[in-house]
Parts: sequence; C-alpha cells; structure tokens
Amino acid sequence: MNILVLNGPNLNLLGTREPEVYGHHTLADIEAACIAHGKTLGVTVSCAQSNVEGVLVDHLHAARGSMDGVVLNAGAYTHTSIALRDAISATRLPVVELHLSNTHAREEFRHVSMIAPVCVGVILGFGAAGYQLALTALHWHLYGSRS
Ligand code: DQA
Repeated sequence: MNILVLNGPNLNLLGTREPEVYGHHTLADIEAACIAHGKTLGVTVSCAQSNVEGVLVDHLHAARGSMDGVVLNAGAYTHTSIALRDAISATRLPVVELHLSNTHAREEFRHVSMIAPVCVGVILGFGAAGYQLALTALHWHLYGSRS
C-alpha cells in the first residue's frame, strides 16, 4: 500500500512557525515519523510539500494510479480552495484531511473547510501525532474495515 502525505502552504516552516500553535516538530521530523509509522502498518509513505495551490493539485493528480490514499494538510487552502476540493473529487482518491491545531477553536474563518465534504474523514487538534493517527485511520479505511 502506498500513501502520500501532502502538506500545503507555510508548513515547511514548522518548528519555528508559531510553535505555541503548531508545536516544535519540524516538517522533516513529521515526515520521518510518518515513514516510520508507515512501516509498522506495512505502508510505503511518500511525502511532499508545496506553498503553491496548483502544485498541490498536480500532486493529487500524480497520486492517482500510484497511491492508495492521501493524508492532506492543506493549510490555509483548506478554507479557500475549490480547486483542491475538485482535485480530490476528480481523482476519487480517499483523502484524510489533517490539521495540527483544532481549527474550530480558532478564528471563525478557520471553521470552514472546502475540502472536508469530499474527504473520508478529518483529524485535527492532536499536533504532530495527528499525522500518525491519520495514517492509521486511512489504513483502516482502506483495509481494516474489510479484515
Ligand atoms: C493548519 C490550520 C490552518 O488553518 C492554517 O492555515 C495552517 C495550518 C493546521 O495544521 O493546524 O496553515 O492546517
């Protein structure tokens, strides 16, 4: 099984970006933990990050055919991007929406997700550990429910 962990804008700055909100783990830490957790699940994890909306769309298109599912932290594009929502629908890939912070406990504009309706589920508020929870959830969605 192959899973893509895709991160959006400003997440390359994790570690130094508002650590009181997003924690102290760098994106490299998180990606290494995802790859290690994937091994315990029997999953090959690939990781990508972009600050550019269209590049994230391209990553979703490229995942079609090569990946079984995607863990997506779309950052601020979560709240604005119809293009990302359409890309998720178009690829028909199972996507788990992920946020480090509890977006519902923050500013009102973060309470809206353009992509949640086309995702299989959402994990938020558990910091860096959320990525591992999301991988486990996606693994369960793909295989656990059938075993
Ligand atoms: C975020 C939440 C978004 O509202 C914000 O724009 C981010 C990070 C999170 O992981 O908590 O960039 O997706």
